[in-house]
Amino acid sequence: MLNRRDLLRAAAAAGALGTVWPLSAGLSPAEAHAAALDLGASWDPAPFTLGVGSGDPLPDSVVLWTRLAPEPLAFEQPLPEIVEVEWSVASDRTMRSRVACGSVASSNLLGHSVHVPVHGLRPGRTYYYQFSALGKRSRVGRTRTAPVGPVSRVRFATANCQAFHDGFYAAHRGIAAEKLDFVVHLGDYIYEHGQVGGAHVRDHEGPAVLSLADYRRRHALYKGDPSLRDAHAAHPFYLTWDDHEVVNDYSGTDGSAPFVKRRAAAYQAWYEHLPIRSGSALEPQIHRRRQWGSLIDLTVLDLRQYRSAQNLAGGTILGAEQKKWLLDGISGAREAWQVWINSIMLSQLARTGGGYYFTDQWDGFLAERREVLGHVAAEGMKDLVVLTGDWHSAFVDDIRPDFDDVTSPVIGTEFTAHSVTSGAYSPEWNAANGPVMGAANPHLKYFEGNRYGYDVYEVTPQRFTTHMKVIGDRRDASSPVSTLTTFHVDRGKAGSYEDPATVGSPAQYRRP
Ligand SMILES: [Fe+2]
Repeated sequence: MLNRRDLLRAAAAAGALGTVWPLSAGLSPAEAHAAALDLGASWDPAPFTLGVGSGDPLPDSVVLWTRLAPEPLAFEQPLPEIVEVEWSVASDRTMRSRVACGSVASSNLLGHSVHVPVHGLRPGRTYYYQFSALGKRSRVGRTRTAPVGPVSRVRFATANCQAFHDGFYAAHRGIAAEKLDFVVHLGDYIYEHGQVGGAHVRDHEGPAVLSLADYRRRHALYKGDPSLRDAHAAHPFYLTWDDHEVVNDYSGTDGSAPFVKRRAAAYQAWYEHLPIRSGSALEPQIHRRRQWGSLIDLTVLDLRQYRSAQNLAGGTILGAEQKKWLLDGISGAREAWQVWINSIMLSQLARTGGGYYFTDQWDGFLAERREVLGHVAAEGMKDLVVLTGDWHSAFVDDIRPDFDDVTSPVIGTEFTAHSVTSGAYSPEWNAANGPVMGAANPHLKYFEGNRYGYDVYEVTPQRFTTHMKVIGDRRDASSPVSTLTTFHVDRGKAGSYEDPATVGSPAQYRRP
């Protein structure tokens, strides 16, 4: 079976890409739609084509999301400027036991997106929700509020890096089917660049994604994978972002007018397509701390919006305000699992003989990393687990305040998850470089780069467990999910260990 990438590559080789990539310049909405169907896309019935979602659970509140888009890939939606949207929340899937309802005006100014912060809900409960507009009803979504007080167990997942052109979202299909309290998206929700890796192919696509309409169409295409819509409808999401929601490796310090305009368009489209609790579509506030009862403090970081350029002596990845907030949170941390939602790798990844693999990640912000991790050590904050995406491969690392000093104490664990679809290095690269990375990084315990999927975490007061869930083949939309390996962190003991049952599973590096 061909995946989307193979289909596009074949079309490009035949010189016919313009008729295949759905967002190519010059296609009519109908042609774009047909091209998307050829790549496995489909949408919910209009006007709720993009599905429904919920996010940012608090003990008494979740945000409900939808967007009206009768023609998802069109530059303009055939809708009045204002469309009234009704919403309701119930305690049962049939929506008979209604607990809240209301109506909101959706506006073309925000792409007819709807963000409803529902309040007055009960903690630790499952709810169902539905929208109606223009005489039509959306599908029913399921959500969950955060609990308060003692919690004996939580089960959640992370997803990251879901290049539409790289495959089907079998991983999201797996997430949708999991019994979970919530999902965290670690970023690279869309990719702004062309559809295939080869530069000659990208040239065929025409202008890059720059305008608000471009970014809206990109998000609408991604929501055309039914598994992604199913995952959103099944679970509430906490979200951060990485670079590709705007453009590769960007930092907030590029103040040129075209870039500022482009970034504003990207931020707004991201907001319009996701269940974000925010006062501003143009500068969404992502960093936040959320509690899942007594068990977890979730610290969601935004490592893009406020960063400086990389490799500067006084550089920052957090920005001054977020850094102060993080340091204060470390000082005031209660006894709970301290889980950081971290879009890009925190742990050092040094090359043999000096330098780093990528300085777009925390390796490009050395002084700030030392300051933050030194503060964790100095304040004695325990039970730190960092959840990371971006790398398109799985890593497990011990976190040390000084990665160059192997006698400095282990103060936490970083789990870097496989990507949903975005291309990893080749099996040959992984086989050759897994041991090289392991040798140059004594804190690196595990590396596996040949697979795609998502992580599921099972957390109790005694133990934090990470299951690496992998799909068989990203070319298959219904590829089955299996557990590749499982790692544990015991409460009060920094450092992870692999479950004895899975230590024989395939990996390109495993510290003996
Ligand atoms: Fe990525």
